[in-house]
Amino acid sequence: MTNPRILVLGTGGTIAGIAGDAMRHDYLPGQIGIDQWLEDAGRYALDVEFVGQQVANVGSEDMGPVIWGKLHRAIAEAMEDDSIDGVIVTHGTDTAEETAFLLDLTLPLNKPVVLVGAMRPADAVGSDGMRNFVNAVRVAAAESAKGRGVLLVMGDRVLAARDARKVRTRGTDDAFRGFPRGSVAIVTPSALDWFGKPWRDDARPRFAFPDEFPEVPILYAAGGISPATAERLLVDAKGVVVAGVGEGNMPDAVRAVLADRASKGLLVVRASRVDEGLVDREPEDDENRFVASRALNPQKSRILAMVMLANGVSDPADFQAVFDRP
Ligand code: SIN
Repeated sequence: MTNPRILVLGTGGTIAGIAGDAMRHDYLPGQIGIDQWLEDAGRYALDVEFVGQQVANVGSEDMGPVIWGKLHRAIAEAMEDDSIDGVIVTHGTDTAEETAFLLDLTLPLNKPVVLVGAMRPADAVGSDGMRNFVNAVRVAAAESAKGRGVLLVMGDRVLAARDARKVRTRGTDDAFRGFPRGSVAIVTPSALDWFGKPWRDDARPRFAFPDEFPEVPILYAAGGISPATAERLLVDAKGVVVAGVGEGNMPDAVRAVLADRASKGLLVVRASRVDEGLVDREPEDDENRFVASRALNPQKSRILAMVMLANGVSDPADFQAVFDRP
């Protein structure tokens, strides 16, 4: 039997980062090229063949439509290429959850696609990058990873793209969590254990990848924010996600501004600035033409809103049906 052939797309982040000095607090993400990375991985005698491609080498705060588009094209081609068995994307952890969810919504997924990052740069004492990467290799090479959408590997956990969220700024312990599902599998370089059956029986993309991403800002609610703040943010917006207080709440005066704009066609999604918990529909949402984000946090709600708007969706009920879907 031949070894699985894995396409590894490098985009940068801390996993490719270098500090140069163990006693320094700061470091530069996106310093190690994918060829160097794969040469280093060669030390571990992995039973796979790698094909490397450098898509970008940036801190993930600089991910956006251009690099997303390049990534999407490269993975879509790999899905058609019979010589590739799975895909790994090395990615900064700061926005990995957004890229993972965007790809999950817009790619054909007939092979495993796995994002992986690290919380410590490659030359740190106790760097987690290579361990996470080898865990990702185990997932990307596994037949059993099919039908589970895009996955994210951090530490020894596998998270589904829709659930994954970064919950700590530093440290490797539980830096990511899944909500509402926790981890969907535990992985080590030598073992992979799933906690349930595959959940996607259709490998076709759910939405077309946007030619252009519409403007969808996030309005961060807080005690005392003014309607003027909301008005300023809405210039050029096609939609807005409210990172609301508690279960997606906002001051009445802000709600009035957004309800007025929603009546004229602006998409308004109520999410929450609280780390975990559902934002369910309220009776006034029908009247206000608002959408409740359910389990999606503000940054993921924004990705879904942009993708659906770019796909020509305009009815709040159609948005709600997709936000509701687990
Ligand atoms: C980044 O997201 O590029 C920096 C932080 C990290 O990768 O952990």
